[in-house]
Amino acid sequence: MKKISLTGIKPTGDLHIGNYFGAIKPALELAKEYDARYFIADYHALNSMKDPKELNSTIRQVAAGWLASGLDPEKVIFYRQSSIPEVFELTAMLMAFTSKGLMNRAHAYKAQVQENNEKGDDTDAGVNMGLFTYPILMAADIIIFDSDIVPVGKDQVQHIEMAQDIAQSVNANYGQQVLKIPQAGVQEDAAVIPGLDGRKMSKSYNNVIPLFVPEKILRKTIMRIVTNSQSVEEPKNPDESQIYQLYKLFADNDEQAALASRYRNGGMGWGEAKEELFRVVNRTLSPMRERYDAIMADIPSLDKILQNGAEKARPIAASVLKRFRKAAGVD
Ligand code: TRP
Repeated sequence: MKKISLTGIKPTGDLHIGNYFGAIKPALELAKEYDARYFIADYHALNSMKDPKELNSTIRQVAAGWLASGLDPEKVIFYRQSSIPEVFELTAMLMAFTSKGLMNRAHAYKAQVQENNEKGDDTDAGVNMGLFTYPILMAADIIIFDSDIVPVGKDQVQHIEMAQDIAQSVNANYGQQVLKIPQAGVQEDAAVIPGLDGRKMSKSYNNVIPLFVPEKILRKTIMRIVTNSQSVEEPKNPDESQIYQLYKLFADNDEQAALASRYRNGGMGWGEAKEELFRVVNRTLSPMRERYDAIMADIPSLDKILQNGAEKARPIAASVLKRFRKAAGVD
């Protein structure tokens, strides 16, 4: 039997190239090797998103984005967290095995407390119980499917360790392997994708190249890439240019070699380099954009895909929950 991998997707709208190469593409690769499950963590998002319209449309945008990027719902299980009530029942059970002290140590909570203390605010200002207990719900997301591996960035490793701690407390208490202990699959070499200003591409820096915008806007965005004041004639070092770093993600080897030598020979201005970057980016993104637009134009079909995924997921979740309830004496 193949091992199970599980990927939780935080609903954020406006997916960008950094998300695609840093998270989406590597996560989709796992479907080749693992029995892969992907879910939209919509109840996690509720902790911070209180505008119903925004949450509702963000859920669809991120789901459509993953589908347009190549997630095949026939081959993997793709669902919304909120469609699996067993996750929340498991969360309640795991609460009984989670010390408050463990939650006090969670990074997201600690960061908020520290910010409050620095500002002289009440220690727990802006902290709802969803944020405080976030790692327990995340542990349930993982444990409910007997997941073997959870591919995550470094920032999420602590959460996986907490899921391990919580599952181990359960197993230790009942003296048997009731819950599977998940492992983190840390993407050590996850490429850092440079943004328009050369810093890491990130929504918080406002330097992103979005994945699913009309061609015109894509072009305009690429033209905004910050460059130095080297003249057209001057030879340029491709390795010091974020245009070239981005180019490498989209161009084949011959194209990369050709552009690198144009850089080195001089005679090519930044404007031209950007045009060439736009050409290859658009070549990759055009078919994705078409798929995305088609999916977003038919929300009922999108919802049906997610619903079908939930129907595949629920019996698995129910059997894990049943095992735990039996061990706990609440069957
Ligand atoms: N916390 C993750 C993030 O911020 C999202 C997430 C929620 C998740 N539940 C998960 C990831 C379960 C992996 C497994 O990106």
